[in-house]
Amino acid sequence: MKRRELLKGTAGLATAVGSGSLLWSPYAPAAAHDAYFSGLNDLLKREGPGRPVMLIDTERMNHNIDVLTSSVGPEKTYRVVVKSLPSVGLLENVLRRAKTRSLMVFHQPFLNAIADAFPNADALLGKPMPVRAARTFYRKLGETTFDAANQVQWLIDSRERLLQYQALARELGVRMRVNLEIDVGLHRGGLPEPAALGSVLKVIQGDPEHLSFSGFMGYEPHLTGQKASLDHPAVQDVLGVYRGFLDGARTAGVEVNGLTLNGAGSHTLRIYERDKTMNDLSAGSGVVMPTDFDTFHLSDNLPALFIATPVLKRYDGNPYLPDAPDLMQRLYYIYGGYWKARMVSPAEVGEPIYQSTNQSPITTSRKVDLRVDDYVFLRPTQSEFVMLQFGDLLAVKGGTFTDRWPVFHQTG
Ligand SMILES: Cc1ncc(COP(=O)(O)O)c(C=O)c1O
Repeated sequence: MKRRELLKGTAGLATAVGSGSLLWSPYAPAAAHDAYFSGLNDLLKREGPGRPVMLIDTERMNHNIDVLTSSVGPEKTYRVVVKSLPSVGLLENVLRRAKTRSLMVFHQPFLNAIADAFPNADALLGKPMPVRAARTFYRKLGETTFDAANQVQWLIDSRERLLQYQALARELGVRMRVNLEIDVGLHRGGLPEPAALGSVLKVIQGDPEHLSFSGFMGYEPHLTGQKASLDHPAVQDVLGVYRGFLDGARTAGVEVNGLTLNGAGSHTLRIYERDKTMNDLSAGSGVVMPTDFDTFHLSDNLPALFIATPVLKRYDGNPYLPDAPDLMQRLYYIYGGYWKARMVSPAEVGEPIYQSTNQSPITTSRKVDLRVDDYVFLRPTQSEFVMLQFGDLLAVKGGTFTDRWPVFHQTG
């Protein structure tokens, strides 16, 4: 009881000193950060490593996962995009919260890491890999209960590539599941039309010992800018093409029930809440919300990913521009910089004087009162590459660090 009173008393003293010091200032500086970023700043100054770090707010992340999974609904599979969340520790948390074991993978070293870390996963490739990458995957597959014959869906975009994979499957004496990339309007490759299906399915159906057909992948991010709902003509075009491929498969004698019919990404997933064409919807970035994902269908998602980096130096004026505009009147140098990222706190900064990956100058108005060793906060514009640049991801919740999650290695 006594201890609690003492703590209460100390907190009161801190508040009094804090507000008093504002009165003595020669001008009234706006706090550099709002309450949210002030809390993170205090935490980092107390316990951070003193270098640029990547933070993940897990409460916001969980909110985002819940928004995405409620759009996917109970009848479809939510497939987590690994390249956008490139860390085993992070993925463990996302899979647990989303109650899914389905992943989309875009890089051979990540696929091997998934096979090791998630022996129950279903891994659909998100792009067609050179057959040598598939060969490397099998060579590196260690002691694991992960059953590649049933848990990997290799993405195939042409008959030629399928024949390469078939030859590899025969050489290695393995069976491969094959998912076909279809062009539903993006024009980033894949089978261009249902007429191309016949000759591909024939190869698969003719070699059941080495190949099986697992479904389609039709990605449609070109719908992002349309702010489209399900009945939008551009969406109906995509779904019409998708259904054309399904009809083509049925005509070739394929039983389509049970296939993985994948599509969507964070930008578009919400469009399909009431649709039944696809049964497997992907999203990764919407879990952490880099700025490129501030788009129409993600307006309920919250920014959960931040670069935090210390201020190294401060100038009270701007030695480069004595008559600087308001937003450039104070100059700071931060640790690192030139990331694919936008400053989020302080909220307003001037145009960059120049960019440096070593020590970047940033400018603010005189009202922003950052001190040396304070942190500034940026939101990455995308997650996949930027998240790999800072070492372990630092998970934060309610003003404390809760976890460190190593990121994937680019090779291996
Ligand atoms: C095939 C495919 N599906 C889905 C996605 C969606 O990923 P995200 O949700 O991170 O945008 C991508 C992103 O590039 C993709 O290439």
